[in-house]
Amino acid sequence: MKVGIIGGTGNIGEGLARRICISGKHDVIIGSRDPAKAETAAGGVTEALSERGVGFSACSGGANADCCDADIIILSLPFDKIESTIEAIGKEKFENKVVVSLINPMLRYPEEKCFLHDSPAETSAALAIKKMLPESAKLTTGFNNVAAGKWMRLDEELDYSVVVCGDDKDAKDTVRELVADVSKLQPLDGGPLKMSNIVESITPLVITLAMNNGLKDVGVYFR
Ligand SMILES: NC(=O)c1ccc[n+]([C@@H]2O[C@H](COP(=O)([O-])OP(=O)(O)OC[C@H]3O[C@@H](n4cnc5c(N)ncnc54)[C@H](OP(=O)(O)O)[C@@H]3O)[C@@H](O)[C@H]2O)c1
Repeated sequence: MKVGIIGGTGNIGEGLARRICISGKHDVIIGSRDPAKAETAAGGVTEALSERGVGFSACSGGANADCCDADIIILSLPFDKIESTIEAIGKEKFENKVVVSLINPMLRYPEEKCFLHDSPAETSAALAIKKMLPESAKLTTGFNNVAAGKWMRLDEELDYSVVVCGDDKDAKDTVRELVADVSKLQPLDGGPLKMSNIVESITPLVITLAMNNGLKDVGVYFR
């Protein structure tokens, strides 16, 4: 498959691209508002993987809209940037596409030393994004609870669960197949998209636990 990462130049995007490409199974296109920036990020991925002397699949860079030519489109942006980004790309580019949201809107409460899900009116970012996309787009959650730092450190396994919620079974199967190809991630069917508020809420809990207990790379594994 070909995987497009919209906003792929950010904290999560480059690590995600590295991990997908090192599987050797799926090509990646990193998207940006600035194609030159995306090409630089893609060059960084290729360089990091070349240094390891193992096989890997192709990573290229382009405009965010170019990601819509992929089989799976991952939205890797802050929630408040997503509506303008979809508008700039053109909603029609997402017709019939499998789209993955790893977006967790959250707020920090420094005095109380915690983070909380910043729930939109629709209860989750995923349900809000579903309204921004054409009806034919098949949206799932995925990768919401895996922290950015560990994505980049290729010597370490990603030994976490990834909960895939969505309303289209085939789309969920496609995304779970991708998840299974990344390190040791365990893809799980999390039911319909209306479960996404729970999935998104796990991340503020994980960050709060890490912050208050001096833990690193906190994640979830359901077994
Ligand atoms: N960080 C984590 O550990 C983590 C873990 C799990 C999930 N997430 C979720 O993943 C998503 C991405 O997180 P991140 O930390 O990678 O985000 P980020 O680095 O802050 O931003 C990602 C990309 O968004 C683009 N962007 C910034 N401002 C924009 C604007 N005004 N309009 C359009 N695009 C804009 C930038 O790309 P260009 O400048 O190249 O266009 C940037 O590289 C978030 O929703 C977050 O909740 C994060």
